[in-house]
Amino acid sequence: MNMNDIERALRQLRLSGIHATLETRLMQAQASQQPFLETFWAILQDELDRRRTRLNERRFKQSRLDERLTLQDFDWRFNPKLPRQACFDLYTLKFVAEGGNALIIGKPGTGKSHVAKAIAYQATLQGYHVRYLEADAELARYALAAHDEQQRMLRECTEPDLLVLDDLFLARRISDPSAELLQTMVHRRYKLRRSIVVTSNRVIQDWGKYLGDNTMATTILDRLMHHAAMLEFEGKSYRLKEAAARIARGASHDA
Ligand SMILES: Nc1ncnc2c1ncn2[C@@H]1O[C@H](COP(=O)(O)OP(=O)(O)OP(=O)(O)O)[C@@H](O)[C@H]1O
Ligand SMILES: [Mg+2]
Repeated sequence: MNMNDIERALRQLRLSGIHATLETRLMQAQASQQPFLETFWAILQDELDRRRTRLNERRFKQSRLDERLTLQDFDWRFNPKLPRQACFDLYTLKFVAEGGNALIIGKPGTGKSHVAKAIAYQATLQGYHVRYLEADAELARYALAAHDEQQRMLRECTEPDLLVLDDLFLARRISDPSAELLQTMVHRRYKLRRSIVVTSNRVIQDWGKYLGDNTMATTILDRLMHHAAMLEFEGKSYRLKEAAARIARGASHDA
């Protein structure tokens, strides 16, 4: 038996985590004369670590999130009136286990999408199946899609444990087929008690206008709000602060 035999066996058993670190662990064991069980334990941890990382990676990809945001990198001092406690409550993901929803409504640039993405990313790390959508773009794509494609999109919006509809009604009025998808999605997930997080800078009183149908807005909101946390984001735009900082930097370079 030599190293090649061991490597072949590890490949056959698909133990790539052990394969990657075996030489180091061997060196470590020889250098520190570690007891066998301790070395064996470290080797098992290497395999578990790699599997966990890969699984997290797969869930992140599946979620279609475009960035890994957290609440650690959120500056709570910038807009002191934000509902910080409620954000952290959502971040615990209890609401996902309970099939509850969250509506994050408020002014542009105050961090609604940031918080929703952070919650979604956290959910992928906790093993939930998550789907993040830029709401208007996805609803518009649906309206133009062929029947089979529409069915597939609807399934993709129904199956995950957590669905994030980000920036809903950013483009004001959405088309009738888009509004119908939104309604079907919300109805189905409500029946299955699966969570939705919605962010929007449109107050819910105006949703009828953007849907082109007040009754539809009521049936959607009725279901969304039945088991929901309502978060209001009041404050200044962080984007403007960043833009102002860029301009100031530019000015100081020019000087
Ligand atoms: N308090 C904050 N601390 C750190 N970064 C922030 C904060 N608020 C917002 N940001 C950042 O500013 C940018 C704009 O925030 P975000 O997209 O979350 O705003 P929004 O409320 O969703 O706006 P809109 O209504 O226009 O969609 C993002 O890059 C976000 O990470
Ligand atoms: Mg947003």
